[in-house]
Amino acid sequence: MPEIPLPILTERLVLRRFTADDLTAYHAYRSLEETARFLPSGPHKITTAMQVVGKYSNFVFEQVGDWVSLAVEAKGSPVLLGEVVLKWLPGRGQGEVGWILAPAGRGKGYATEAAEAMLKLGFETLGMHRIEARLDALNGASAAVCQRLGMQHEATLRENSFANGVWSSEARYAIFASEWKSSH
Ligand SMILES: CC(C)(COP(=O)(O)OP(=O)(O)OC[C@H]1O[C@@H](n2cnc3c(N)ncnc32)[C@H](O)[C@@H]1OP(=O)(O)O)[C@@H](O)C(=O)NCCC(=O)NCCS
Repeated sequence: MPEIPLPILTERLVLRRFTADDLTAYHAYRSLEETARFLPSGPHKITTAMQVVGKYSNFVFEQVGDWVSLAVEAKGSPVLLGEVVLKWLPGRGQGEVGWILAPAGRGKGYATEAAEAMLKLGFETLGMHRIEARLDALNGASAAVCQRLGMQHEATLRENSFANGVWSSEARYAIFASEWKSSH
């Protein structure tokens, strides 16, 4: 796999590697019930946040299963606003993208802008063929991000997950390199 060039700059954002200094801000948004509502991992305790920030800070992207997990900041404002991730899935040229924003980062188009950059990374730099998103079927805000990215709804897996005492259904969206390139 080629080296991942960091930081990644978009029109309004800086996507950079996490550092230990992000722990307080990361824990602040990942410990919220409203952030965790559709995330199987649930709200993070500080010990979990420490482990995750440590892992994100030292990510490697060398084999199937590895993640690129980047901190999202607005240009000129070094405040952690969230995270965007690209995972290397099994199978030739397969990836998965994901996004989580702190409440202060929402409603500005930042998740879509950051995810666009991850699709560009996956398709142009890493040569991926297909990138998917997996989300709770009730997560309308996340489905809207997929639609803004030009991803197609491919399936909803009914009640395929049990977490926090409830069954949930998973929506799958995806986009191919050719579809992405034809719109860029
Ligand atoms: C999912 C999540 C990242 C979506 O965040 P979001 O802010 O709604 O999505 P975007 O950043 O793409 O912003 C889009 C919104 O910004 C608005 N916006 C404002 N200024 C904008 C601009 N300059 N450019 C683009 N959009 C802009 C859009 O109109 C849209 O608002 P709307 O939802 O009222 O139509 C957020 O809800 C979240 O973090 N949820 C908790 C974690 C989670 O569930 N993650 C997904 C797991 S699958």
